[in-house]
Amino acid sequence: MKKTNWGIMATGKITESFANALNAVPDACLCAAASRSIEKASAFAEKFGAVKAYGSYEELARDGNVDIIYIATPMSCHYENVKLCFEYGKNVLCEKTLTLNGSQLEELIGIAREKGLFFMEAMWMKCLPHFKKALEWYREGRIGSIKAIKADFSNACDYDENDRLFRNDLGGGALLDLCVYPLSLVTSFLGFDYKNIMSAVHIGGENVDMNEAIIMQYEDAFASIFTGFCAENENRAVIIGEKGRISTNPWFFCTDTVRLYDKSGALVEESITPHIKNGYEYEIIEAQKCLNEGLKESPVIPLPDTLKILRIMDGLRNDWKFRFDGE
Ligand SMILES: NC(=O)c1ccc[n+]([C@@H]2O[C@H](COP(=O)([O-])OP(=O)(O)OC[C@H]3O[C@@H](n4cnc5c(N)ncnc54)[C@H](OP(=O)(O)O)[C@@H]3O)[C@@H](O)[C@H]2O)c1
Repeated sequence: MKKTNWGIMATGKITESFANALNAVPDACLCAAASRSIEKASAFAEKFGAVKAYGSYEELARDGNVDIIYIATPMSCHYENVKLCFEYGKNVLCEKTLTLNGSQLEELIGIAREKGLFFMEAMWMKCLPHFKKALEWYREGRIGSIKAIKADFSNACDYDENDRLFRNDLGGGALLDLCVYPLSLVTSFLGFDYKNIMSAVHIGGENVDMNEAIIMQYEDAFASIFTGFCAENENRAVIIGEKGRISTNPWFFCTDTVRLYDKSGALVEESITPHIKNGYEYEIIEAQKCLNEGLKESPVIPLPDTLKILRIMDGLRNDWKFRFDGE
């Protein structure tokens, strides 16, 4: 297998977990790290063994040895950062949400396709074994037709006016940061042909959505989602079918455990696949597999689905009369 040379753009919280995972993936090489500050880039490169450090994102995009760039800046920066990478012909794995809104993403997908570049959302949940197992059980008919899905993601986050989570100008808010997970889960099982979507929101912080409750009504099923920064929840996902149910461990998007129950509630099967490192390795393996096979889009995280999810979020924000700076 050919080695894949990775560049990491930004040195924030998530990049540390990503770099740790990258260093555990066979055939992955951490080639370069870039920050807006050369001191931060150098410290990061030294800590994680990157060959080069750059004090600007453009230098990373220009590096001819880099095959793919992982972008982990705040949401409001993704559109410009991805465009910069595409300008220099770089493949991109970018953190969720890929952009602030559907229009920005549509434009980026157009550029990637025109230039023949690989482009994928770092929706790591969809690459994890427990999530694939849950989908497999459902597709095998083990729970019959789905009647309801319940998926919450609520965190206790201390308010900090400088944190991207609470800043409108950085694309903060629970919808883009957290709700993208339950929406990705629900649409993976029930698709996008819902009949109705209802929601309620609390706007706070520096004008961002702090909590939201969402109900999606399908022909014969409901999905219920609660996301927010207000308090720590169990954060399980339960997929309820007419013949049984599938239930994840807490923190449904990153756990290693999922269980199948029959109609009477008895446990039928349990699937546990311990993470190789911390779970982020699976999205890295998926991106490398696509690059090695010459795929420009991942079949596990299809770009058209990523776009449809952003469009759902556009619709919700429209209902809430909530916009990001510059939109
Ligand atoms: N998959 C996951 O589990 C997961 C978890 C957390 C976050 N995320 C995603 O990863 C991305 C980053 O999240 P994070 O929690 O790592 O954020 P963070 O700690 O705030 O770091 C963001 C980094 O982006 C860079 N940056 C560029 N322009 C910036 C600006 N105008 N203001 C602030 N920072 C700027 C900075 O790096 P430099 O100073 O080095 O340039 C900063 O350290 C988001 O898209 C988020 O949704 C994913």
